[in-house]
Amino acid sequence: MRMALRFVLPLLLVLGLIAWLAAPAVGGLIEKWFRADVEMRSRLIFNSVQENVAEQVRSGSSRQVDGLFRRIAQDERVLALGLCDNSGKLVRRSAAWPASLGCPGDNSAEPSFTVAHLNNGSVLAASFALASTGAPQGHLVILHDLGFIERRLSSAESYLAAFLGFLGLAAAGVTAIVARLTLRGWLSTLQRGLKGQPGTGSDRRDAPEMAPLLREMRKAMRSLEAPRGLSDAIRVDWGPDSLRSLLRDEMPDAEVLVVSNRQPYIHNMEDGKVTLQRPASGLVTALEPIMRACGGTWIAHGSGSADSLMVDKSDHLAVPPEAPAYTLRRVWLSDEEQDGYYYGLANEGLWPLCHIAFVRPIFRASDWEQYMAVNRKFADAVVAEATTPNPVVLVQDYHFALLPQMVRERLPEATIITFWHIPWPNPEMFSICPWKEEILAGLLGSSILGFHTQFHCLNFLESVDRFLASHIDRELSVVRDVDGNTTLVRPYPISIEWPPVALADTPPVDQCRELVRQRYGIGADVHLAVGVERFDYTKGIADRFRAVQSLLEQHPEWIGRFTLLQVAAPTRGRLSAYQITQEEAEGLAAEINERFGRDDWRPVLLVARHHEPDEVLTLFRAADLCLVSSLHDGMNLVAKEFVAARDDEDGVLVLSTFAGASRELREALIVNPYDIQGMGEAMHVGLTMPADQRRERMKLMRELVSEHNIHHWAGRMLLDAARMRKSRAIQNQMVQAVPAGGGRHV
Ligand code: F6P
Repeated sequence: MRMALRFVLPLLLVLGLIAWLAAPAVGGLIEKWFRADVEMRSRLIFNSVQENVAEQVRSGSSRQVDGLFRRIAQDERVLALGLCDNSGKLVRRSAAWPASLGCPGDNSAEPSFTVAHLNNGSVLAASFALASTGAPQGHLVILHDLGFIERRLSSAESYLAAFLGFLGLAAAGVTAIVARLTLRGWLSTLQRGLKGQPGTGSDRRDAPEMAPLLREMRKAMRSLEAPRGLSDAIRVDWGPDSLRSLLRDEMPDAEVLVVSNRQPYIHNMEDGKVTLQRPASGLVTALEPIMRACGGTWIAHGSGSADSLMVDKSDHLAVPPEAPAYTLRRVWLSDEEQDGYYYGLANEGLWPLCHIAFVRPIFRASDWEQYMAVNRKFADAVVAEATTPNPVVLVQDYHFALLPQMVRERLPEATIITFWHIPWPNPEMFSICPWKEEILAGLLGSSILGFHTQFHCLNFLESVDRFLASHIDRELSVVRDVDGNTTLVRPYPISIEWPPVALADTPPVDQCRELVRQRYGIGADVHLAVGVERFDYTKGIADRFRAVQSLLEQHPEWIGRFTLLQVAAPTRGRLSAYQITQEEAEGLAAEINERFGRDDWRPVLLVARHHEPDEVLTLFRAADLCLVSSLHDGMNLVAKEFVAARDDEDGVLVLSTFAGASRELREALIVNPYDIQGMGEAMHVGLTMPADQRRERMKLMRELVSEHNIHHWAGRMLLDAARMRKSRAIQNQMVQAVPAGGGRHV
C-alpha cells in the first residue's frame, strides 16, 4: 500500500499540474472549433434561405419575413434572426432577439461574425448581405446562442479531470505492481547471489539487469571473505596491544571463549602441598599470551590432583595467578571418560592417524562413544559460559573434532575458529578412520578451520572432497556443506610470544652457559647441543641419538668435545607406544654413552622430567646447537623458542624437514631425520660453522619469528573472523530485506 501511495501521489500531482496548465489552451481550442462550427451553420442557414428572404424583402411582405424567421428560429441552436436595412437599422426580428442588441453595424458585402456578450450569455451574430439583381437589400443577421459552448467546455473540463485522475490511478497502480515484482526479482537475485547459491548467474530466475550490480557486490563480499596475503598482516607490528585494538575495533561485541583439553595452569598435590605447573604444551605456549592480552574464558580439562580445590563454585579460577587477566573454567572428566576420549580416541587413534611416524592407529568403538560424550560435555560448557549469542569460540586441536558442529547447532551465530595443531593426513591415510565422515562434518561446524601449513589444508580439502557431499571453492578455500554452512580453510602458522615473557628474568648467555654446565657436569670446552620435547614417538628422539652416534663415528674429533643434553617431559605414559619410545631412547642413550663415554664425559645426557619455561630458556641460551628432529610435526614451537631465546644472535638450529617450522625457518640446517648419517653431518656443519654465518642465519630467523609471532597468528585468524562477521551481517540484512513469501518491506 505504501508503495502504491508513493507512486500515486506524485503522479496525481503531476497530472493535475499538466491539466491546470493545459486547460486554457484546450478550452480556447475547443471554443474555436465550436465557433467555426456555428459560423458554418450560419452560412448554411443563410445559403438555404437567402433567396427566399430576399424575395420577401423585395416584395415588402413583412408577415412572410416574420413567418420565415419563426420557422428558422425553431432550430435549437439559432437564437433569433433579424433584418437590418442598408443604414444598419434593425427593421425586422424574430421573437427571441435580445432587446439590448442592435445591428452588428457592419455594412460590408462580405459575411461578418461578431460575438456579443449579453447579460445572459454570449451570442454570435452572423451578418450576411442580401442582394437581389445586384442591388443591396440590407443584411440578414442570424444570432446563435454561444452558451452551449461554455456549457460544453465546462463539462469537457470535468471529463478531462476525471479522465486524467483515472489515468493517474491506473498508471500508478500498474507501475506499483510492475515495480514491486521487479524489485522482488532483484532482491531475490541479490539474495541468491550473496548466498552464493549454485546456479546464480545462469539461473533463469535471475534478473539479467542485476548482473553488473551482483558482480560488484560479489567482488566486495569476496574481498571481505578472501584470504589475504601474509603481507596484509605484516604491516601491523603484532603484539598484545594490536591484538586488543583489533578486538576492540573490529569485533567490539566479541566475547572470547577458548576450548582446549590441556589447561594453562595445573594444580597438583605434592607432599601435602598444592603446587602449580605450567604444562609442556605448544598449544598452551601459544594461547596463553593471547588470553592474557584479550581476556575471556578458557575452558579446559581440570586434570591436576589439586585442581578442584582451587576453583569457585562455578569451577572458575582467575589466572595467571600472579596477575589475573582471564578466567579458567575447569571441566571434570571421570577416569572412564579420560581413558576413552583422551588416551583412546585422541591419542591412540587420531594422533598416530595424523602423524606419519609408523605407529598403527587404534580405533575402538567404546573410545569413540567417550569421545562423543566428552565433546558434548565441553560443548555444554561453551554454551553455559557464553553470555552473548555470537561469541568467538577458539576450539583447539584434535581432541574436539565434533565440538564445532555441536556448538554451531546451539549457538548458530557464534564465530567458531578451530585450530588443528597437528598435521592432517592425506585422504588414503585418513580413510582408515571408521568415523571419518563424522569427524569431517564436526569440523565443518567451524566458521574458520586453521592448519599450520597449506599442505595440511589441501589434505583436509581432499579428504572432504573424497568423503563428504559438499561444495569446495578452491580459489577461496571455502567448503560449503549440504546445509549451506561455510568454512574457510586456511593456513595460520602458529608461533610464540615475542619476546618470551620469561626472557626478562633469564640471566645473560654467558651465565646460562655456566649454569647449565655446572648443573649437568659438562666441561667448559665441550660443545653443547640441546633437545627439548615431550617424550613422544613423533619427535624422533632416538633418531637424534643415532645421529650423535654417527657424528662421533664420522668425526671422532668430537669425542670428548660434544654432548647432547636431551630434556624430555614424560607424556601419555599410560600408552604402550610412549613407554616403548622412552625405553628405546633410554636404552640407546645408555648404549652410546657406554660405547663412547668416559668418566668425565658422556655424549648423551637424557633428563626425563618436566622443565618449567625459565629452565628451558636457560638451556637454549647455553646451547651451541638445538636439535629438532621430528619425524612429523604440525609446527614445532621448540624451534621458534630456541630462536627467540638467542638475543645474542648466536647458536645453530638443526631442523627436521617434516616439522611445519621448516617452511618458515629456512636458515636452519634442514635435515631428514630418517637419514641418520645426513643428520650427523648437519650437526658437524653446525658445530664448525663460522661465527658470522651463525649470526647471519640467526638474525634472519629472529626477524621472521619476531614478525610472525603468536599475536600475528591470532591476529590473522581474528581479522578473518572479523571480515566474516561483517560479511555475514551484510548477508543477514539482505536476507531480511525479503522475508520468505512476502516482501513486506519491499
Ligand atoms: O601437538 C599437539 C598438542 O596438542 C600440542 O599442542 C601440545 O603441545 C601437545 O599436543 C600436548 O599434548 P598433551 O596435552 O597430550 O600433553
